[in-house]
Amino acid sequence: MNIDLGSIILDFPNMDVVPSYIEALREGYKTGIQPAMSAEEIKEIEENSKTHVENLNEKKTGVFTAPDGSVFPYVPYEHLWLTQNDFFIGSVSFRHELNEFFTGFAGHIGYGIRPSFQGKGAGTLALKLLRRRAAERGIERLLVTCSPDNPASEKVILNNGGELWDISSRTYGFEQVKRYWVPTDTDRDGAEKTLASSRLNG
Ligand SMILES: CC(C)(COP(=O)(O)OP(=O)(O)OC[C@H]1O[C@@H](n2cnc3c(N)ncnc32)[C@H](O)[C@@H]1OP(=O)(O)O)[C@@H](O)C(=O)NCCC(=O)NCCS
Repeated sequence: MNIDLGSIILDFPNMDVVPSYIEALREGYKTGIQPAMSAEEIKEIEENSKTHVENLNEKKTGVFTAPDGSVFPYVPYEHLWLTQNDFFIGSVSFRHELNEFFTGFAGHIGYGIRPSFQGKGAGTLALKLLRRRAAERGIERLLVTCSPDNPASEKVILNNGGELWDISSRTYGFEQVKRYWVPTDTDRDGAEKTLASSRLNG
């Protein structure tokens, strides 16, 4: 698969990308702290892919329960796929607002790159594109968190200008995370320079 930097986009999940998305799930693609899916779960998605895509695009409302039993409302968010010509590379979940849970633990963003494309700059590029998207919403800085045991995620954050805030003491039953503030990208020219210098064309 040759990468064409100019055609990599972040967009909403759609059916055209599903075959490649299923391949990525079989490779072990996952986002954030979630485990990779089992063969049974992937088969279920393959057989009900239209519903799965609709669910990914659905704006959840109501509340969710953290592992320690704390209950929090969902915040407005979008789940986006990083693709090139309908080839699935990875995903970004972007919370438009922070509540106590997202401030204390999960931050604005969760991301994942399919294993066969890790280490090629795709994670760094995904956060860069998201920084531009967030700036367009008027957000000036993004809270991005990572496990101290996830050096690749931490490097993605640092590559995007992240500055360490602290190690959060509010975990709600999850593991501790490092919290970083990442500036959003109001500079379209700068975004294009980053695309041009990304190592993805290797
Ligand atoms: C974290 C993740 C998104 C990074 O994606 P990626 O496409 O591999 O990221 P990049 O290619 O931009 O690499 C980022 C940096 O991490 C470095 N890196 C990768 N693996 C590493 C490791 N095990 N130890 C140290 N550094 C590592 C790379 O060398 C690169 O450094 P560089 O920019 O100085 O060359 C990807 O590993 C992933 O999907 N992991 C599973 C899900 C996850 O952990 N998501 C993040 C939590 S929300």
